[in-house]
Amino acid sequence: MGKFLFTGAQILALDPERPDYFTGDLLIEGDRITAIREEAGLIERQRADRVIEGRDLLLMPGMINTHGHAAMTLLRGYADDLPLKEWLEEKIWPVEENLDGDDIYWGTLLAICEMLKGGTTTFTDMYFFMDRAAEAAADGKIRAVLSRGLVGLGDSGGEALQEAASFQKEWHGAADGRISVTYGPHAPYTCPPDYLRRVMEEAAKTKSPLQIHLAETAHEVEECRRDYGCTPVEHLQQLGLFEHRVIAAHCVHLSDEDIAILGANRVGVAHNPGSNLKLGSGIAPVARLLEAGVPVGLGTDGAASNNNLDLLEEMRLAALLAKGSACDPTLVPAKRALQMATVNGAELLGLSDVGLLKEGFKADLIAFNLKAPQATPFFDPLAHVVYAAAAADIRFVIVDGEILVEDGCLTKLDEEKIIAESSRRAERLTGRSVLRT
Ligand code: NI
Repeated sequence: MGKFLFTGAQILALDPERPDYFTGDLLIEGDRITAIREEAGLIERQRADRVIEGRDLLLMPGMINTHGHAAMTLLRGYADDLPLKEWLEEKIWPVEENLDGDDIYWGTLLAICEMLKGGTTTFTDMYFFMDRAAEAAADGKIRAVLSRGLVGLGDSGGEALQEAASFQKEWHGAADGRISVTYGPHAPYTCPPDYLRRVMEEAAKTKSPLQIHLAETAHEVEECRRDYGCTPVEHLQQLGLFEHRVIAAHCVHLSDEDIAILGANRVGVAHNPGSNLKLGSGIAPVARLLEAGVPVGLGTDGAASNNNLDLLEEMRLAALLAKGSACDPTLVPAKRALQMATVNGAELLGLSDVGLLKEGFKADLIAFNLKAPQATPFFDPLAHVVYAAAAADIRFVIVDGEILVEDGCLTKLDEEKIIAESSRRAERLTGRSVLRT
């Protein structure tokens, strides 16, 4: 690992102790940010092995994807524009039955290529064959929060739960601390109360957080009311789930009481606007959640329901949907949306030293090219990133002090090989021919 100095760059640190943005220098030594100055040229060039001129660069924290199923990249574009039940039961689940460990490895690597190039430096995953997903995350040099997806209805013997416990033991803190492990009970409707209690008991042994899909569709809420006489949020509260750190994905259909419960318990919500729109699930009440003190991060969900893993797009959607759905353009302003994609995501996942550009924090950051028509005129970095920038504008992506993307190209991964392998596997799984490999 080297010592890199960005000099004279636009810096969007998101650090509450600094101005929102400034022109200055940023030094990386090893895996950490070791110096930031709010003026250009104040850090001595000799301190770095490499000096990167920042005149046309905007630096900001790497983005944090708080919900997804990485290897579902293999099912991208396989089944679209279908009702959720038909999509899952007739298309997705039958193919998932045939996934093997190697599929997960290559599908996850494909996701990592896409996420890194789009400025995501930490991703969250809930899927299976997670040891292979963890290998992909380790090889891809990205930061990852991983969980073995647990469907209680099919796990009466508890084998999957045991696998999750072994996975936690083996991988939590691995890859120089870049990998952390959580427990992933899939949803209240696939995990009966007794099973959720067993998951909580297991997670409590290592104080691991839990990730779960929650209140994604109106149908889920109706079923929960029928089966348990309350909303899914109330149901989980009664079971004691919120005594643990919880990352709840979706939270689209919430009552006022639900929002109050989530706020009082500091339950983290992973907002997935693209997936919710595409599956016709609805629009999460993000502005009201934020107002109630709920930490809200952003997620892409799997590439079978999105269909890309582009957090810039999710950030823009989050801001626009909040405004449009309430006819109020002041809701979720650019800074808010940016915080959701970075520092709030870190908070949600319990990562204490990423999400901001700050001395002593991990060097997880990205740099946009500002020499572009869509960045001209350049008045406001916050508005630029949220409302105008595209993944293709990203020049550098750095995780743990290592440059993983430079001039828009992956430096450590063989993108061509990963694309060819993934296409081949997608063909085998779906029985369909891809149009190009
Ligand atoms: Ni999901």
